[in-house]
Amino acid sequence: MSDAAKQLIGTAMTSASVPKPFAAYAPSNIALSKYWGKRDHARNLPLNSSLSISLADWGSHTQVSPSDDGQDHVTLGGKELALDTPFAAKALRFADLFRTHAASAPLRIDTNNTIPTAAGLASSASGFAALTRAICGCFGLTETLSEAQMSLIARLGSGSATRSFWHGFVRWDKGTREDGADSFAHPLDLNWPEFRIAILPVDVGPKSQSSRDGMNHTVVTSPLFNSWPDQAEADCAAIESAIKEQDFETLGPLVEANALAMHATMQAARPALTYLTSESWTLLERLWRARQDGLRAFATMDAGANIKLIFLKQAATDVMEIFPQAQMIDPFSKP
Ligand code: ADP
Ligand code: DP6
Repeated sequence: MSDAAKQLIGTAMTSASVPKPFAAYAPSNIALSKYWGKRDHARNLPLNSSLSISLADWGSHTQVSPSDDGQDHVTLGGKELALDTPFAAKALRFADLFRTHAASAPLRIDTNNTIPTAAGLASSASGFAALTRAICGCFGLTETLSEAQMSLIARLGSGSATRSFWHGFVRWDKGTREDGADSFAHPLDLNWPEFRIAILPVDVGPKSQSSRDGMNHTVVTSPLFNSWPDQAEADCAAIESAIKEQDFETLGPLVEANALAMHATMQAARPALTYLTSESWTLLERLWRARQDGLRAFATMDAGANIKLIFLKQAATDVMEIFPQAQMIDPFSKP
């Protein structure tokens, strides 16, 4: 079976130029309607569409350059990584998708995350989007490949990376083709300047099970998973409509319900899987109590213990009072 992303890279690389240093940035993104479950593991093709909000200047800065000593190098946050660490190996495997078509140029990948790595704050999304942009730039392909095509290619690194090529709200259509040609993201063309996100840090250390492993374990063993793909597709459509209407009162409950349903599929997995800790639940209970007292903020959680809140600007002071540890993000301020 052919792979649309690999074909795209193959065609683009016929017009590649001599590699030169190229630096790129991609924002991390938080799914408001989650991607959870794949119909094809090799291509990271999802069972349902998803929709995210990008995190402005929280993301990954990556530079790809030709190596000057004939060896590959990968650095993260200024520290050289052994090439057999999973992080370096995965990044280089991704770079190899491009190098099979060029004189196999040894490369330097220097990357820096402004978000914690592997803590459920979507470093894999910003990481592979920034890496895709930087590799394409290094080989002179930024004019050849569109953003949508880069989004499709980044999917091979990590599914959620498809959504990290734009600021604001982004939808990843699941697509139906086996080669993945129709599975990439596009931005929703709208500005919602009052929209806010807050990160409530619970544990910013690396999680014990990657999203990839957690997702696969849930799909294979959870009796509750069967109901997820249809519900998630319906949630994604309803969430998109609420965003387009800028109807926060409809959006907030849908976003929170979608995240809790995803976590319910994990809790029913055998053995059970939970990324949420007692502290995560304490924060959720505090949020629910505050909502009874009138706070208009809603939560979403990914494969990690941290809680993210969504709300509108007018609730920001109350959010900061109730959650003084909140790290506020204004996703529509131009970074
Ligand atoms: P997260 O919740 O942060 O996305 P995951 O376990 O899903 O956590 O993904 C973390 C993985 O993403 C890392 O182990 C690494 O393979 C990849 N990753 C993270 N940051 C980068 C980066 N800047 N460049 C390349 N790959 C990255
Ligand atoms: C819970 O994109 O990290 O954050 O495609 O296997 O790399 P792979 O998984 P990844 O999973 C993200 C899962 C999630 C939900 C989401 O971002 O939509």
